[in-house]
Amino acid sequence: MTCFCGTRALLVLLFLSSLSSTVRPKMVVTIGPSSTVVLSRDQGEPECDVCVCGGPAPDCSSSEKTLKSPGDLEVDFGCLKPQEVFTMKMTTKIACTTSSCTPAVANVDPTLFKDFKRTLMWDISVPERTVLSLDFGPSYGLKDISTTDNCQDGYKYTVSTSRFDGTIQTNSYCKDGKVSQLELLGATTVTLELPTGGDLDRTVFNVNTTPRRGRQESVTSDPNTMIFISRVAQEPDCSVCVNEGSGQNCNPQSLSLTDPSNTIVEFTCPLPQDVFSVEINRQIDCTKSSCVGDTVHAESTFFPDFNRTFTWDLKVNSPKTFQLDFPEPGMRQVQKEELCPDGHTYSLIAYPRTGFADIGTFCQGGPVNTVQVRYKGRMSLRVPGNAKLGPANFKLDVGPETRMLAIMKVSLPRGVSDTDFSTPYFPRKFPDLQQMQWDFTVPGMHNYTILFHNYTAPECLTGDVAVEYQKGESKVTTLTLTDPQPQHQQGDFSMVLKNCETNTTLQGLSLSYRVSVMRSGHPVLCTVDLTKQQGVSLQIEKVGSDPYCEISLNSEVKEKMNVLEGTTARLSFLDCTKDDLRLTARQVFDCPNAASCPPFSLTIPSLDSCLPMPLSSFTWLLRIPSDQSLDLVSPSGSLQQALPGQECQKDFLLNVAEADGYSVGDFCLNGNIQKVQVHANITVTATTPDFSKVREPFLNVSIGPEISGKCIFVNAVLTC
Ligand SMILES: *[C@@H]1O[C@H](CO)[C@@H](O)[C@H](O)[C@H]1NC(C)=O
Ligand SMILES: *[C@@H]1O[C@H](CO)[C@@H](O)[C@H](O)[C@H]1NC(C)=O
Ligand SMILES: *[C@@H]1O[C@H](CO)[C@@H](O)[C@H](O)[C@H]1NC(C)=O
Ligand SMILES: *[C@@H]1O[C@H](CO)[C@@H](O)[C@H](O)[C@H]1NC(C)=O
Ligand SMILES: *[C@@H]1O[C@H](CO)[C@@H](O)[C@H](O)[C@H]1NC(C)=O
Ligand SMILES: *[C@@H]1O[C@H](CO)[C@@H](O)[C@H](O)[C@H]1NC(C)=O
Repeated sequence: MTCFCGTRALLVLLFLSSLSSTVRPKMVVTIGPSSTVVLSRDQGEPECDVCVCGGPAPDCSSSEKTLKSPGDLEVDFGCLKPQEVFTMKMTTKIACTTSSCTPAVANVDPTLFKDFKRTLMWDISVPERTVLSLDFGPSYGLKDISTTDNCQDGYKYTVSTSRFDGTIQTNSYCKDGKVSQLELLGATTVTLELPTGGDLDRTVFNVNTTPRRGRQESVTSDPNTMIFISRVAQEPDCSVCVNEGSGQNCNPQSLSLTDPSNTIVEFTCPLPQDVFSVEINRQIDCTKSSCVGDTVHAESTFFPDFNRTFTWDLKVNSPKTFQLDFPEPGMRQVQKEELCPDGHTYSLIAYPRTGFADIGTFCQGGPVNTVQVRYKGRMSLRVPGNAKLGPANFKLDVGPETRMLAIMKVSLPRGVSDTDFSTPYFPRKFPDLQQMQWDFTVPGMHNYTILFHNYTAPECLTGDVAVEYQKGESKVTTLTLTDPQPQHQQGDFSMVLKNCETNTTLQGLSLSYRVSVMRSGHPVLCTVDLTKQQGVSLQIEKVGSDPYCEISLNSEVKEKMNVLEGTTARLSFLDCTKDDLRLTARQVFDCPNAASCPPFSLTIPSLDSCLPMPLSSFTWLLRIPSDQSLDLVSPSGSLQQALPGQECQKDFLLNVAEADGYSVGDFCLNGNIQKVQVHANITVTATTPDFSKVREPFLNVSIGPEISGKCIFVNAVLTC
C-alpha cells in the first residue's frame, strides 16, 4: 500500500521538477509504548514541514509534530536536511510503586533521530514514603555541576525533584564523574541533552524504588502537656504523622498534640531529629494562693534525641507576681541567643499589656536567685538533642504585688567578681512607662561599683528616665543614665530603672550594666624567701572563725599555706587579724655522721619581717646516724622537766619527742637536769608567748656515741 505522504510528494514533484520523491527524506520510527516524541522546528530556520503517514489524511505541520505509538510510524520531511531545522524531544513516563517501576530501565533507541539535536526526558512518578534510586553505572558515573554550567562533551543531565513544599529541586550533572547512583524523594524528571549525532548506550539508567524507612515515637503524657513538633530545617523531605480516628494525618511542617496521652507519632524519614524540633508545653495557673499544675519537671523520655524546648506558661493576676526561685547554684544572665555550656539554656519572657519583653536568658551557676514577674509569662528551657536532661532548676510560687515589670534578686558572691545585667529585650527597647528592679545582696567587707557599659536613651514625651538606688530604708538616690553611678559602696542595695513615655519613632531605652565587687580591705602582702635558710620551712594556718579572713599563696586562696624549704612565696593576707592565723616554722638538721656535726645551738633563724603575725612555735628536726645519740644541754646550765601539776613558770617550753611521735618530755630552764641524752632522731619544739624576747639559744646540741636502754635519770642525767 502506498503512503499518502509519498503521493503528495509526487504531486509536489509535478511543480518542482528539481525535487524527486527519492530525495524527500523519509523514515520509519518505532516509539516505545510509554514514550512521546515531539519534533519542533526552530522558527528561525527555513520553512520545512513534517508529515506522519498512515492516517486517512496527511498529518503535517511546519512547526511541531507529536509522535506517539503504537506501531511503526512513517515520517517524512519537506526539506532535504530536516536535522538542521527540527529538534527532537522524547518524553518517557515511568511509573513506580514502593517496590518497583514500569519500565524499570530507561532504554532508548540510540539511532532514533540520531542526526537531530535530541533531548531525552523521563518523567518518573513515585508514591509517598518511597526512595527512588537512579543507577547510572557501571559504565560511567555523573559529576555534579551547577545548573547553569554546560558539559564539554555536550551530554548534560538535569534531575528535578518535587519537594514536600511544592518547590522543585534541580541538580545538573556531566558524564564521567563518581556519582553512579542518585537517591531521590518525590516525583522526578531526568533530562538528558545530547550533542547532535552523539552516541548513546541503549540503557541510560536503571530505576528502582524502596519503601522509605521512617521512625515512630510513642508518647505517653498527662493531659496537661501539649507537644508541638515543627520543622526547623528545609531539608530533607519528611512529614510528621499521627494516627487519628479517621486515619493517619501527616504534615510536612508541624504537628500539635494537644492531648497526647498515649499517642504514636510517626515520621516519614529515618532521621527526623535533623528536621524537626519539639516543644513540650505546660500551662500553670498562679492566680490563686499557689501555682496549680506546677510540675516543673522536664520529661526526659519525650523525643530525647530531638532539640527540645520545655515551656511553662505562667498565668498570674497583675499586680501580683509569679516567682521563680533558682536554688543553688543559682543562675547567671547571658546574652539572648547564647547557649549555655551545659546545654540547658533558660529564658524568661513576660507579656505586659503591650507586646512582650524577654526578662532574660540564663545559664545555671550564678548570683541570680529569684525573679518575680508581674504579668503573664513563659519560662523555657532549651536542650539540644541527645543532651542528658538535668532537672529543671527552678521552683515556682506566687510572689508579692509590685509596680515593677519584674524584680530580679541577686546575691553577689564573695571575692572579686564582675556580673553583667541587661534590661528586658536588650539591645532593643525597654517598654514605655515600665520599671524594672534589681535587688542586690552584697557580702560583708566588700565594695561594689556600678558601670553602665552600654545604653541608649530615648526621647521622652512625658516623664524622665530615672535610675534610683536605695539602701535598706534610707533615702532614694535618683540619677540619670549619664550621671556617674555608685562606686566603692558597701551594703545591700536595690536599683530601679524607670522608663518615660517615649517618642517611639526614635531609639528606645536599653541598658546593659556591670556590677563589680571586690574586697573592701587592702591585702597585706609579704614575700617570703627561704632560699638562703637551709632546712627552714613555714606553715601558716587559718585558725579563727572569721569568714572574711582570706589568705593566699602565690595568688591561690588557701586555708593552710606551706612555704617549702628552699623556695620563695608571695603571701597575701586580707581582712585577717593576728588571732585568725597561726605561724609555725621548722628546721631540719641532718647529721649523716658524727664528724659532720660539731656541737651547735638551737636558735630561731630570722624570719621575714613582713609576716603579719607572730611565730607561735618553732620545731627542729634532728637526724643522726643509728649508732649515735644526742646530748641536749641548756645554755643556762640546767633543765627542768615539766610534769602535770608542776608547770614551768618560765618564758618558754621545749617539747622533745622522738621522730616517730613518742614524747620524751616537756622541759624548761633551770632545774635538776643537766643533760638529756637521746638515742633517736628527735624533734624539739619551742613555744613561747613572744619569741622576740628570747635572747639565748634554746639548747646546745652535740652528738655522742650510742647509749642504750629506757630513759633513766642518774646523777642528774636523763638518759633515754
Ligand atoms: C539543634 O540544635 C543545635 C544547637 O544546639 C543546632 O545546631 C541544630 O541545627 C539544631 N537542629 C535542629 C533540627 O533543630
Ligand atoms: C553595646 O551594644 C551594642 C549592640 O548590642 C554592641 O554592638 C556593642 O558592642 C556593645 N558595646 C559594649 C561596650 O558592650
Ligand atoms: C518624634 O521624633 C521625630 C524625629 O525627631 C519627630 O519628627 C516627631 O515630631 C517626634 N514625635 C513627637 C510626638 O514628638
Ligand atoms: C572600699 O570602699 C571604701 C569606702 O568607700 C574605701 O575606703 C576602700 O578603699 C574601698 N576598697 C577598695 C579595695 O577599693
Ligand atoms: C634517723 O633517721 C634515719 C633515716 O631518716 C635513719 O637512717 C637513722 O637510723 C635514724 N637514727 C636513729 C638514731 O634512729
Ligand atoms: C652552749 O654553746 C655555746 C656556743 O655554741 C657556748 O658558748 C656555751 O658555753 C654552751 N653552754 C653550755 C652550758 O654548754
